[in-house]
Amino acid sequence: MSSSRPAAVVVLAAGEGTRMKSATPKVLHDICGRSLVGHVLAAARELDPENLVVVVGHAREKVVGHLAEIDPGVRTAVQAEQNGTGHAVRMALEELGGGLDGTVVVVCGDTPLLSGDTLRALASAHGTDGNAVTVLTAEVPDATGYGRIVRDASGAVTAIVEHKDASDSQRAIREINSGVFAFDGRLLADALGKVRTDNSQGEEYLTDVLGILREAGHRVGAAVAADHREIAGINNRVQLAEARRILNDRLLTRAMLAGVSVVDPATTWVDVTVTFEQDAIVLPGTQLQGATHVAEGAEVGPNCRLKDTRVGAGARVDNTVADTAEVGPEAKVGPFAYLRPGTRIGVKAKVGTYVETKNATIGEGTKIPHLSYVGDATIGEYSNIGAASVFVNYDGQDKHHTTIGSHCRTGSDNMFVAPVTVGDGAYTAAGSVITKDVPPGSLAVARGQQRNIEGWVARKRPGSAAAKAAETASREPDGEG
Ligand code: UD1
Ligand code: MG
Repeated sequence: MSSSRPAAVVVLAAGEGTRMKSATPKVLHDICGRSLVGHVLAAARELDPENLVVVVGHAREKVVGHLAEIDPGVRTAVQAEQNGTGHAVRMALEELGGGLDGTVVVVCGDTPLLSGDTLRALASAHGTDGNAVTVLTAEVPDATGYGRIVRDASGAVTAIVEHKDASDSQRAIREINSGVFAFDGRLLADALGKVRTDNSQGEEYLTDVLGILREAGHRVGAAVAADHREIAGINNRVQLAEARRILNDRLLTRAMLAGVSVVDPATTWVDVTVTFEQDAIVLPGTQLQGATHVAEGAEVGPNCRLKDTRVGAGARVDNTVADTAEVGPEAKVGPFAYLRPGTRIGVKAKVGTYVETKNATIGEGTKIPHLSYVGDATIGEYSNIGAASVFVNYDGQDKHHTTIGSHCRTGSDNMFVAPVTVGDGAYTAAGSVITKDVPPGSLAVARGQQRNIEGWVARKRPGSAAAKAAETASREPDGEG
């Protein structure tokens, strides 16, 4: 509905966040693959506002750079000195050219659990009730530090009193200000001009706007959040971890209800951008990041970390680290594989134990079962790469490509010195260093001939345990033992 479309959402993110004890600005800390301010912007975008403004101050170059990356449509307003939340909103309205017709929603940049649904409910209550301001409140178990919602005998909201400025009886109130508001844009601009700084912090409090509007005879209301955990602001790293846990649980619950088996939610961590299909299985100790997708019936884990990786239907990925890789349907990976960017594993192919791949296309049904490095390579279909093979892709200066055809059988302990090509259906002998192209269907042998020097131990190491063992062996008749 376009009528409920806010004129602006203002995100307050100028504060330093001292209690994080971090070189990184507070709002840039990450949970579930997104910065704190990124979560807030995602919720704000659900309101489809005409303007989205972030107030920046502390470490603003870093914050502005990050915003340009994640949401180029965002405008920023600079609050050079942090003179309070009211002052911050004033800077945002100045950036927008003064008071706006329509609704202005204000949120804090450090409340990553706030959902778009809750913002929509606030904006719609604000419109339906015809309020000048509607504050999002919540009943919390411990209200210490929060602004308290003061109501009169009829239950109408009369004021917000900051913890530091509150009396003992006001401090007993458990309904708190979430810091999220919907305002009439014009009345907000007028009231901000009247906010004073005669409080314990000497700041312009946004919360004072509510009392100012009420005294001027305007309608003031509150919307109570269904879940108080949604409005929790992050101030330190304990709260950061708690918020991450809550969000992770939300994401896993949604996945499980959609038909994904998560065997151990306590040790499974997912980013907001991860997607699953039905009957995917996630085993314990698994972290799925970025644009990772796990298709129908695929099994991932235990102990995997997959970033920006697509796992095809029915594939199995065990004890594996992967970054920007594609695992084909019914392929098998691991245990103990490392798939680096550009790895593409075909249908029913296998990348087994202690195998590292990079920029490698591995065809349907091809197997690289053990102890190998496959970098900058194309391997055709239904080939088998022997154990302990290395694709020697780097000459110390440049990277080169190796091509291996279909239905090849390469021996164990081969070095493929790139650039080199092994044709379809070719074999290579164990221990070969392949430096020249191998024509289709041939056997390549590239290793020293074996030479046995008989009696060497008896002559050179007389009396040693080896010499005695050799002597005993030479006396034993053949075919016995
Ligand atoms: C504020 C509210 C309090 C509410 C609480 C909810 C005021 C006066 N108090 O208190 O009623 O219960 O949030 O978490 O509004 N910021 C700026 N510029 C400033 C000051 C703050 O951008 O000059 C930003 C901060 O970066 C932060 C947000 O505004 O994102 C809230 O500021 P903070 O200092 O955390 O306010 P609280 O004391 O928590
Ligand atoms: Mg705060």
